[in-house]
Amino acid sequence: MVANQDLSNLGGLPIFSALFRAVPHPGTVFISNSKTANCTPFDVFKMPIAFARCGSAFHRVVARSAYSPCAVRPYSSHVFQENDIVLVQKKTDPSSKLILSKPLRPGKRVNTSTGHIDHESIIGISPRAVLSTASGKGEYRIFRPTLGEYTNLTARIVTPVYPADANLIVSLLDLNPTVPDGSSSSPSPPLEIFEAGTGHGALTLHLARAIHAANPAPPPFPSPPRRISAPDSEEATPDSVDAEHQAAVDRWEAYKPTRRAVINTLDVSARHSEHAQKVVAGWRQGMYAHSVDFHVGSIPEYISSRLAASPDPFLDHTILDLPDCHLYLETISQALKVDGTVLVFCPSITQVIACLQKVRKEGLPFSLETTLEIGQAAGVGGKVWDVRAVRARSFVRAEAVEAEKVEGGEEGVESVAEGSGEEAVAEAAVKEAEPPKPEGDGWNMVCRPKVGDRVVGGGFLGVFRRVDK
Ligand SMILES: C[S@@+](CC[C@H](N)C(=O)[O-])C[C@H]1O[C@@H](n2cnc3c(N)ncnc32)[C@H](O)[C@@H]1O
Repeated sequence: MVANQDLSNLGGLPIFSALFRAVPHPGTVFISNSKTANCTPFDVFKMPIAFARCGSAFHRVVARSAYSPCAVRPYSSHVFQENDIVLVQKKTDPSSKLILSKPLRPGKRVNTSTGHIDHESIIGISPRAVLSTASGKGEYRIFRPTLGEYTNLTARIVTPVYPADANLIVSLLDLNPTVPDGSSSSPSPPLEIFEAGTGHGALTLHLARAIHAANPAPPPFPSPPRRISAPDSEEATPDSVDAEHQAAVDRWEAYKPTRRAVINTLDVSARHSEHAQKVVAGWRQGMYAHSVDFHVGSIPEYISSRLAASPDPFLDHTILDLPDCHLYLETISQALKVDGTVLVFCPSITQVIACLQKVRKEGLPFSLETTLEIGQAAGVGGKVWDVRAVRARSFVRAEAVEAEKVEGGEEGVESVAEGSGEEAVAEAAVKEAEPPKPEGDGWNMVCRPKVGDRVVGGGFLGVFRRVDK
């Protein structure tokens, strides 16, 4: 096995730790060079499996060699590799600030309030191990971030969906992808989720976690073109550079149609999209990156270009986390399969209402299935809201009276039918709605209650179902 482990870096470590890291398993060969320097996230990801298992196996050989040296549970067998991202926290204070490292690289360090910890000293140790800072003044526990910790703590240029909200959104989609089945003679089209805006990539990662196991193992992700010198020359030959890079790109392109579940995520901002790609690639060596395609541009452009290539609806689910979601419902209705979901995530209930009004006024093929307030104020699983277009009873009566006058004099006033769809008067809703006396055209709004000065995450989810026209 080959790993990018430079034994010369082990000089300052305690002897057990050095042994543990340098000779993890009989038969394991470490090559102290930079053979992996040009690895892609996927290349690097392949390595730890053997290394990690071997590393922990050695640990157990030392600890209890008399029995079952290889009885290692896979999830506990990780040791930190170059390019891993770790969390660092004061050993004595589990409530203290969490520090998210940069990808581990020799020569780099994590800075803490009591001195720094070299990345080299983290590479090769197991999660939850404790290290001292170089100054010896502090002890820190090193562990792997959860996905939620990672998306919360990565540097951000836009507000991400918070983990609890992201998990709830994913569960509302009820994703149940199946594992690849090579024996299937008629492969079905992939499960396709469209997400607009990508933002930080936080929700993208949570969605990708839910679907990635449906996909076959990916080839190495194409790394940027490299300059390679010809054997008899110091100069790089453009042809060899292009050929190697192109081969990787071709392998990747050939892989894409074999995927059985894909997230197409779009942002209008190239900067946000680029940042999100780094966030996705940084999570566990890019383990979900093969399930996500990033796009920059407008929703109508993207959808119309896809429909131009193939006119049948192709989306199973759509998530809109951007301003003015209602503007895109008509476009999405063209691409969403019947029974598919459109989930709008809005900071205010009025924006969910704007979506509902759009659906009603334009006769779009959607029904609003659920409206949830989410976030700390709403509690676990969200608080269900009753959102409907309602008209005040007095207004409807007045209109009916007017109609009677016009049609046939004032001989009698028919009672207004109750409970007839969304146009019906909803008594309970009217009682709660403001103002009690109808104004304008009689339509009333229900708005978000004030929840305090600081709300972490939260907002309103409208889950629309695509129905048959
Ligand atoms: C609140 S952020 C999304 C956060 C994201 N869901 C996450 O979990 O990290 C909103 C994003 O929508 C993008 N956006 C705004 N208007 C858009 C539009 N019309 N089309 C596509 N993206 C848009 C913004 O650039 C921004 O990145």
